[in-house]
This record gives sequence, structure tokens and C-alpha cells, in this order.
Amino acid sequence: MKILAISGSARHNSTNTAMLRAVSFMAPAIFSISVFDQVGALPVFSPDLETDKLPPPVCDFMDQVAASDGLIVSSPEYVRSIPGGLKNAIDWLVSGNLLTTKPIALMHASHRGDDMLVDLRTVFGTVSSNFSYDVFLRFSLMNLTPDQISEVLSDPQNRERIKAFLDSFSLSISERAGVL
Ligand SMILES: Cc1cc2nc3c(=O)[nH]c(=O)nc-3n(C[C@H](O)[C@H](O)[C@H](O)COP(=O)(O)O)c2cc1C
Repeated sequence: MKILAISGSARHNSTNTAMLRAVSFMAPAIFSISVFDQVGALPVFSPDLETDKLPPPVCDFMDQVAASDGLIVSSPEYVRSIPGGLKNAIDWLVSGNLLTTKPIALMHASHRGDDMLVDLRTVFGTVSSNFSYDVFLRFSLMNLTPDQISEVLSDPQNRERIKAFLDSFSLSISERAGVL
């Protein structure tokens, strides 16, 4: 099962990106998880840019989304809402009709940021008929380094939580695809 894990942070040492990377390394073998950490490389969305020749970073991003069976999205909160870079990335995908039936679940790397989560749920619940409101995994990783995050997530209990989260998401993807 191919999962694209999108980080909403453009920060080099992002806790959200580091968490998604750690999850990609420890996922059971049935999952192939790639991390997209390039929201900062996408130009600001405008319908004027939607020509036959989309900007190359947008094409690359859209190809990765199209090739995935589902998306995991994890983002910081900026000013009580979705960071502009992530919202911009979502706008590109919506306009390209890539999210209408895409299975999507959220992860979160902080004990804070609930206003952003409300907004993100509203957005994904609007654009995808397969947004899994109930499949969610959160860790308190704010201010930790990527190495510290790997260590925290390697704890057996946390590994088990990650496995349960991925199993629930995979079940939801299969059910919605009519496989089960
Ligand atoms: C410009 C800016 C605005 C922020 N606004 C909020 C906020 O409104 N609420 C909050 O809980 N944290 C806020 N934060 C903190 C980030 O959400 C937090 O540090 C997050 O864990 C960073 O994620 P990252 O490590 O993946 O970049 C803000 C940070 C920045 C840089």
C-alpha cells in the first residue's frame, strides 16, 4: 500500500516531518511510505498558472499524490490555523481534482494546535469523500530534534500505537475501495 505522508512544515528540522520520517522507517512491510517535505517549493496557487505547462514542482507533487493509495498529513499550527504553505499545497490538489476520493488521515506532532486540526478537518472533509475523521495519531514532540523524535517513537508502546494507526488507515482504505 503506497502512502504519501505530507508535512505541512517547511522548516528544515520540523518535528512533523521528522515524525513522518520515523513512521515511514518503522512501518510494517505492507506499507511503502514516502514523505513529502517540499510544500515550500510550490509556487503560490493561482488559476492563471493552471495551463498545459504546470510549474515542475507542482507536477512532481501531483504525480506523487496521484500514485498514492492514501495520504497522511501532519502539520504545525500557525496563528491558530493551517500554515499558508500547506493550504497552498491543498489548493493545487483541489484544483487538479486529485483529492475528491483520496483516503486521507491526520497525524499531529504537538500537544497544541487544536484550532489548526479543526480547520484541517473542515478542509479535508470538504474536498474528499474519503477523509477518515476517526483515524488520528498524535504525539507530543514539540521542540525535540529529529534524533530525539526517532528515539521517542522507537519506544515499544509508541511503535504499537503507530502500527495500530496504520492498520486502521489501511482498513479504511480497503473498505472504501470495496476490497473488503
Ligand atoms: C509563525 C508561527 C505561528 C505559530 N502559531 C501557533 C499557534 O497559533 N498555536 C500554537 O499552538 N503554536 C503556534 N506555533 C508553534 C508551532 O505550531 C509549533 O512550534 C509546531 O510544533 C512547529 O512544527 P514543526 O516543528 O513541524 O515546524 C507557531 C509557530 C510559528 C513559527
